[in-house]
Amino acid sequence: MERTLVLETTKKIGKKVRLDGWVDRRRDHGKLVFIDLKDRSGIVQIIGKEELGKLRISDVIEIKGKVRKRPKGMVNLKLAAGKVEIEVEKVKILAKAEDLPFDIRSDGYQIGEENRLQYRYLDLRRPRLVKNLELRHRVIKFIRDWLDSCGFIEIETPILTKSTPEGARDFIVPSRFQSGKFYALPQSPQQYKQLLMVAGFEKYYQIARCFRDEDPRADRAYGEFTQLDLEMSFVSQEEILSLTENLFRELTEKVLQKKVWKFPFPRITYREAMKKYGTDKPDLRPNKKNSHLLAYCFIVNFPLFEWKKAEKRWDSMHHPFTAPHEEDLSLLETNPEKVHSYQHDFVLNGFEIGGGSLRITDPSLQEKIFEILGHSKKEIRKKFGHLLKAFEFGVPPHGGIAPGIDRFLMVALNEPSLREVIAFPMTSGGQAAVMDAPSKVSEEQLRELRIKVLKK
Ligand code: AMO
Repeated sequence: MERTLVLETTKKIGKKVRLDGWVDRRRDHGKLVFIDLKDRSGIVQIIGKEELGKLRISDVIEIKGKVRKRPKGMVNLKLAAGKVEIEVEKVKILAKAEDLPFDIRSDGYQIGEENRLQYRYLDLRRPRLVKNLELRHRVIKFIRDWLDSCGFIEIETPILTKSTPEGARDFIVPSRFQSGKFYALPQSPQQYKQLLMVAGFEKYYQIARCFRDEDPRADRAYGEFTQLDLEMSFVSQEEILSLTENLFRELTEKVLQKKVWKFPFPRITYREAMKKYGTDKPDLRPNKKNSHLLAYCFIVNFPLFEWKKAEKRWDSMHHPFTAPHEEDLSLLETNPEKVHSYQHDFVLNGFEIGGGSLRITDPSLQEKIFEILGHSKKEIRKKFGHLLKAFEFGVPPHGGIAPGIDRFLMVALNEPSLREVIAFPMTSGGQAAVMDAPSKVSEEQLRELRIKVLKK
């Protein structure tokens, strides 16, 4: 007999069905036993006698039985298949389950992080997390379809690569073929997407994994996170912002079914934001508790550089590839603090959910910026020679943006942490808890890589 999904039982009243799933709940009423059977589509009530007696919560079962309408007054509107119930005829246990380490029917916020992440596969049975991951899937699918219809193509860029500075530490991977040399995992696909513009693709995007070794916070993942990374050629900053706001308005209304506060999204200069709100990520909602309202805005006209006091040097406010305003070029060497840039930050309800810019395409200007940031000529050639070389072969003007998928979902779904929207997040101590990584490797592997681990 073919399997029927729980949700489809409502269309099969009077018929015999086979259902497969987990025991979600159990109630004993004298001789009668009631089981809630759960599969990926929903929950339905099963009624039986001693044949259900041995079942425990989370056992995996297959049942055969007859679908019948629930009597009036017994309908459970909270369940997708709450109008029907199954009169059981046969039960088979496919797998037994031990007592779970925690309750999976609550929202889970009260349970310790270590415990939840160590048993993440159980934590992920929680309806709230199932819903979040389904929404994440639908958001990403909507983005892909929408950008496809605008002529973008998705291109994958390498994970084993060279450092791309985004202001964090790199994760490095030793090379076996060239001992003593290392790959770096990309902090973002920044340089590759610029090279794709040189190649002539004009409209690129990627749902891209980025790797950064930085101290975690509720809204900043340690290790890895996902961006919607995009780049376009022959565009103005306004065209990038306008594309982004159209995409996110539709996403908010059609997929999340929430309200956008103001459209077009306000463009606020950095200086105005600091003066009026004291921050460059203002929460513009009239009522900050309204989680149904998404108040997007863009911050523009940032300074190109910020002064790093401890290191006594200039650093990029965004990253070194961001273009300065043409009219400020003469100030670069004399008054770097006065130079404005084509950076744009994308802000939602008080969080920076994305960043981007128009890029430098003049190799000599790019070199000058690297020099102001403290790189020697030799270093520049070694670290960024490939990009400067590429710019000699007909580089189109280009720019882009990268909204963080995890951070966007965290804010849009009003979750307190990124962990609530990522399937297998790291602990705050940087542990991939289910897999217990990082872990030691064998002496043999280290020998092959010619690596020696020093004692502390
Ligand atoms: P930026 O470094 O500003 O820009 O990153 C863009 C967006 O990525 C998300 N993000 C993170 N999310 C979770 N955990 C983290 N550790 C983390 N770090 C960043 C945020 C952030 O706004 N290459 C440029 C983009 C460009 O210029 O086009 C870049 O990566 O939502």
